[in-house]
Amino acid sequence: MKTSRIGRLALAAALALGAFPAAARPAVAKPAAAKPAAAKPAVRADAWWKNAVIYEIYPRSFQDTNGDGIGDLKGVTQRLDYLKKLGVDAIWLTPFFPSPNADFGYDVADYTGVAPEYGTMADWDELAREARKRGIRVLVDLVLNHSSDEHPWFKESRSSRTNPKRDWYVWHDPAPDGGPPTNWQSIFGGSTWAWDEKTKQYYYHIFLPQQPDLNWNSPGLKRAMYDVMRFWLKHGASGFRLDATPYLFEDPNWPNDPDVKGGRPVWLKPYNSGLPKGNAILRDMRAIVNKAPGGAILLGESSTATIEDLRKVYGKNADEINLPMDFLYGNLTKLDARVFKQQIDDAHGKLDGLPPVFFFSSHDHSRQWTSFGDGVNNDRIARITSAMTLTLRGTALMYYGEEIGMADLPAQELKDFPLGPKRRVADNRDPERSPMQWTGETGAGFSNGASWLPVAKAASTVNVAAQLADSGSMYHWYARLLELRKTVPALRDGAYVPLESGNPAVLAYARVDAQGDGVMVLLNMSDAAQTATISGWPTGPRTAAAVFMASPAASAVAGASLSAASLEPYAARLVSFRGR
Ligand code: BGC
Repeated sequence: MKTSRIGRLALAAALALGAFPAAARPAVAKPAAAKPAAAKPAVRADAWWKNAVIYEIYPRSFQDTNGDGIGDLKGVTQRLDYLKKLGVDAIWLTPFFPSPNADFGYDVADYTGVAPEYGTMADWDELAREARKRGIRVLVDLVLNHSSDEHPWFKESRSSRTNPKRDWYVWHDPAPDGGPPTNWQSIFGGSTWAWDEKTKQYYYHIFLPQQPDLNWNSPGLKRAMYDVMRFWLKHGASGFRLDATPYLFEDPNWPNDPDVKGGRPVWLKPYNSGLPKGNAILRDMRAIVNKAPGGAILLGESSTATIEDLRKVYGKNADEINLPMDFLYGNLTKLDARVFKQQIDDAHGKLDGLPPVFFFSSHDHSRQWTSFGDGVNNDRIARITSAMTLTLRGTALMYYGEEIGMADLPAQELKDFPLGPKRRVADNRDPERSPMQWTGETGAGFSNGASWLPVAKAASTVNVAAQLADSGSMYHWYARLLELRKTVPALRDGAYVPLESGNPAVLAYARVDAQGDGVMVLLNMSDAAQTATISGWPTGPRTAAAVFMASPAASAVAGASLSAASLEPYAARLVSFRGR
């Protein structure tokens, strides 16, 4: 598939479907109220996921162990010690199931199998076991809106109108003129309807024609997908990253869109996304993961247009998706302290205390090194974006290679790279999916064979081995942030306190624990030196203790003050303080 730039942006912003039905905001409990107020949805204090760091792995590009140029599950197992040392709590594996790869695994042909190119079920079991030993949880990507057109379910479904699985997919008679039943457009371009010559009906696909939508109105399909979840939980998964959740249902009246190419974007049309029935499915799924021993979760691909819509994705009683990704933050690509302040204050103030999920990079997004970098100050800028994501309250996602400052593969390095059996189609998300850079050798320690996507030339200098040996490297910057997140109570569970920096280029906030101890974060988001005069502290005594971390390193020498700071261009500074 060659997604268009528009298709790709649509995708990143899509899955939007925060348009789930309006949920009344639970009232804040008042201690001595005459009438008991509705309880605020709470997350258990010991919930492992509410402040976790979840590391996304695109297995095809992480570590190849059999020389075929495609990463595999054994490769992930081999790198668990690395991930443990880095300090991640969980990994999310993008699809590794049998698939014709029209959309690189997001077209699943067998939900409970492992594609031979990634290994075997025994390899999965070993990965789950070894991860558990190290205290790392593994999330499986559940592509629940659609399967591959090569899935046996679809083959049966399309075999005849009377096949028992006919209703597992969304079939429709043609319009009176013989054309598609509606004028709706798919997210990847073109009509959402594909004609089936044999049974003389159209089937519906919000993504590619090779990705027919599953019909969640069918009790049989529902049972089968819930069984898929139970299968992976039984095999050691700690939950699921749910793909494209907003699209489970369509308007049963199938209205034509009078303004199909205008109005709301194609991924946010009221007839194709966010239909209320979706909430009941997500509640069922939450109940399934809740039953798994050890606390399994749902991480949602839940882009929304507003923070209010994002709140709804958690479920009115916080009983749907545990961790809906915050695309309002994740889609930002411009360093602007005012915009970030607004977004972060909202995520902390308007989600009823539920944990926000911050991230920038993914297999669908440009890498943050590239999207925020200006070509000159990328290293400092990457330290700002990582310091922000990893010091905020809530859960943080990382994308493989982010910790060494991997960039998108430059266009000229991809230009003439041949298609073939390992890469049947070019995809404009290829640049952010290039092989992990482990060493400076040929193949970057990713594979001994010809890799499915080119290894970036930058790997000769930007690689794990080099950075492990350099205490000032990006790797060590990330490892230290992850360590502080774990060991400093304020960064782990502390409240978020917005501060004023008195300077539009400087973002300032603090995390404060129950004792009043904490960490102040200052980020200069400009290419000029800046001063900040910090205000907005809650009342109470407070003494600066030390500069915990600083970029550039010289900044640490500037001393710790809680009221004023001089910051170098693109500086990041973490100042610890005591509440006495
Ligand atoms: C995934 C994409 C995929 C699409 C269709 C998205 O949400 O993240 O990579 O192309 O779903 O499955």
